[in-house]
Amino acid sequence: MSDTAPYFRQLLAGRDFGRVNPFAGQMANFVYLIGDRESRECVVVDPAWDVPGLLDAVERDGMKLVGALVTHYHPDEVGGDLFGHAIQGLAELAARAPVRIYAQKEEVDGVCFVTGLSSTDVTGVESGDHLDVGAARIQFIHTPGHTPGSQCFLVGGKSLVSGDTLFIGACGRVDLPGGDPEQMYESLTQKLAKLPDDVVLYPGHDYGDRPSAPLGDEKRTNVFLKPRSLQDWLRLRGG
Ligand SMILES: [Fe+2]
Repeated sequence: MSDTAPYFRQLLAGRDFGRVNPFAGQMANFVYLIGDRESRECVVVDPAWDVPGLLDAVERDGMKLVGALVTHYHPDEVGGDLFGHAIQGLAELAARAPVRIYAQKEEVDGVCFVTGLSSTDVTGVESGDHLDVGAARIQFIHTPGHTPGSQCFLVGGKSLVSGDTLFIGACGRVDLPGGDPEQMYESLTQKLAKLPDDVVLYPGHDYGDRPSAPLGDEKRTNVFLKPRSLQDWLRLRGG
């Protein structure tokens, strides 16, 4: 990695933060820190489970947190009530380190509902928008399917933070409220599968046989990126 490469950290719940919460380890969420090595500024993606632990990670690296990005509104990404468990997330972050929060504009209401934040706390973004953190450019890609406002982040044109849209060898569920199989098919095959092969996929959960993979590998091996028609894809998803 050259000196000009963005600052990029992949942190696993239950291992790198959230170690005292066994539920965090079971859910295997990845949180990402993305920023600029020169300006020492970074943003955090989906800060849930252990906000002090995540802020410690930022501080240990000598970085300053300047924003939070949301892939989608589920409580294991943004905090809130998950199966009766109170999960830390954006509300704790707003109290401890108030920074601008970015969610896809269709997801803002859901984020506020799940976290208790108000709509003025969350900035809505659209596909094609970008955020510059120092010299690190983060492009927003709207990928509905898992939820209506799910989004992915393309960092420096080289790293894809995919939330619960695309996993190593799998894709996100479409049977939860707001899920839509046809939209997921479009997001995977018409948006993510069209990104270059050398982009590296960084998913929202550690569900695969490795924590990241070149998108080219996924295009060859992940059946959910390969179907030739919506009917094929729906058959795969159903079976
Ligand atoms: Fe999710």
